[in-house]
Amino acid sequence: MSKKGIILAGGSGTRLSPITNAISKQLLLVYDKPMIYYPLSTLMLAGIENVLIICTKASLELFESLLGNGEKYGIQIQYKIQDKPLGLAHSFIIGEDFIGDSSVTLVLGDNLFHGNNFIKQIKKVISVGLPTIFAYQVDDPERYGVVEFSSRGNVIGIEEKPKSPKSQFAITGIYYYDNSVIKKAKSLTPSKRGELEITDINNLYLNDGSLKVEIMGRGISWLDTGTFESMHDASSYVRTIQNRQGYKIGCLEEVAWRNGWICDNKLVELANSQIKSEYGKYLLKLLHKQ
Ligand code: G1P
Repeated sequence: MSKKGIILAGGSGTRLSPITNAISKQLLLVYDKPMIYYPLSTLMLAGIENVLIICTKASLELFESLLGNGEKYGIQIQYKIQDKPLGLAHSFIIGEDFIGDSSVTLVLGDNLFHGNNFIKQIKKVISVGLPTIFAYQVDDPERYGVVEFSSRGNVIGIEEKPKSPKSQFAITGIYYYDNSVIKKAKSLTPSKRGELEITDINNLYLNDGSLKVEIMGRGISWLDTGTFESMHDASSYVRTIQNRQGYKIGCLEEVAWRNGWICDNKLVELANSQIKSEYGKYLLKLLHKQ
């Protein structure tokens, strides 16, 4: 059975107004490609070929015209609408039919992960099959879900945006859960901000003793793009690494091709359809670099 992943690309993006008054945040650019390319490439690199994108009604057509049904990347993409920003955990209720009786990886549409070891780490988590979240040391943990550790290093608590964080470890926007996540999501009540909180899901797993927390090392980059500052930082990061290495981050066609999901001819076809851009030219160059 093919592995399943959900990208949550809903929300109102109010912190990016006025830009997001007319367009979904996850369609905005991060340097040279739409933001959603980054989390989608993360799922693809993790070997996930079956993807559900959850977006707003207004942006559905735009996402569809950008990514289609995924065939051009050798994957399957389906879409579902989230009418109101009812929270991250709401994804599992919206995605119930899509998930079926599988486990699922959720990635937030505005999160960018980069680093070879991270892909190894997420692949391992998926093959082990235990509910797992990823924590990453940051300077401003109060902006995120935060993990509390005991003196022995065990996880003893998780708090959403605490005023006084009990550690520097933020919970990143990629989560791997077993099928009980659907039931758990349905049992939640909305928080003070009116959302079904992913932190509440994590605490349910923590309480039943099944939650694993993987630390993402400092050699891995995790960036979010929820504010103009962080979007600018993410764009600068992508530009710097790409210019240095000559490789692109978050290039869907490249990932599909390297995974063996599309053939050389398909890559050429995809390159030619956008050959006037650097992006299209890059795709052609990949074949010659072999
Ligand atoms: C959400 C989660 C939070 C997590 C963060 C990662 O925050 O609620 O626990 O650390 O994503 O990006 P939000 O985007 O809702 O502020």
